[in-house]
Amino acid sequence: MSLSGKRVLLIVSGGIAAFKALELIRLLRKSGCAVTCVLTRGGAQFVTPLSLQALSEHKVYTDLFSLTDESEMGHIQLSRSADLVVVAPASADILAKMAAGLADDLASTVLLATDKRVLVAPAMNVRMWGHAATRANMVTLAARGVSVVGPDEGAMACNEFGAGRLSEPPAILAAIEALLCAPKPLAGKHALVTSGPTHEPIDPVRYIANRSSGKQGHAIAAALAALGARVTLVSGPVSVPDPAGVKIVRIETAAEMLAACQAALPADIAVFAAAVADWRVASAAQQKMKKTPGGAPPALELTPNPDILATIAAAGPARPGLVVGFAAETHDLIAHAQDKRRRKNADWIVANDVSPATGIMGGSENEILLITAAGEEPWPRLAKDEVAARIAARIAEALA
Ligand code: C5P
Repeated sequence: MSLSGKRVLLIVSGGIAAFKALELIRLLRKSGCAVTCVLTRGGAQFVTPLSLQALSEHKVYTDLFSLTDESEMGHIQLSRSADLVVVAPASADILAKMAAGLADDLASTVLLATDKRVLVAPAMNVRMWGHAATRANMVTLAARGVSVVGPDEGAMACNEFGAGRLSEPPAILAAIEALLCAPKPLAGKHALVTSGPTHEPIDPVRYIANRSSGKQGHAIAAALAALGARVTLVSGPVSVPDPAGVKIVRIETAAEMLAACQAALPADIAVFAAAVADWRVASAAQQKMKKTPGGAPPALELTPNPDILATIAAAGPARPGLVVGFAAETHDLIAHAQDKRRRKNADWIVANDVSPATGIMGGSENEILLITAAGEEPWPRLAKDEVAARIAARIAEALA
């Protein structure tokens, strides 16, 4: 298995087994993986920053309060810079800090700040490993999704025998490969996502729009891509950044959005998060409409826009396997959303209350109700990224 293009942040904590981190770095580099090291004060008693630097061919970070380190790469940036954070060896002390959420040095701060998966390779004396405190810490960490490799059983440096030896570097490498190279659940699937508002022209300089920011739709596109889907994101005019690894089709009007969605088919998954204008001006002026002194304001004649969700979700050979619509409401949320699910032939509706007091439209959090054939599921208020990750995970489960 190759780790080519992958990035590991390796935290080396204190313990006689720290020397094995050098062999681990060598194996990771041989497999094409970029390695950046953080060395704790305890770790530095056993291996030097220079050894780690020579093998990783990368600067080694040791100090939370180093002005040079912080100006080059802040601890938050460091915590997000890799695909996986590996703690090897993981001492009883760093495991306890992780479980308690302490952040009193660079390593523990990075571990608290990271949004990436974490793998720990514990190494300590057999009694420390068996102590009720360490047992409880490991249960806490496992419940938070931290992966563990080892420890092995055997003779220890302290002349005792039992569980607590750091796993051998090839076994740690295999655990890293299993985490970084596991097939992604939506690999091979095509997902179509709409996001943002539409702009419906009144004349060449004026348009009808709405307050949609595109944050939720863009986050869903990113989350589906992170699970391996090929994503086509059809986006109205927004100022949020383009998600990485996603094909973006930019449109302005609802008619253009429908055409772009139809051109993107076939799709396995379709998520319609865009706030599409319900009406457009029946015949937009070709030239800027002029004010005439004392003249009456123009009357705008509106005509309905196509319903993109209903059109794509209509039964037929081109219907995506799983169609998810949104229902942004200011009252009677459940009744309107359920009605929308039936009327538009969507499989799921993500319903949310967008009354101004909720701060949801344009904000960075969302509180949704997921409506499926099985009923309604209220979700807690979460960051839009987290809502997106959970929706993507539910989609992967549904298609499994
Ligand atoms: O009818 P309403 O606009 O409340 O429906 C919301 C859902 O329908 C959203 O998923 C939205 O993206 C989709 N929609 C659409 N085309 C429209 C109107 C809404 O795709 N013209």
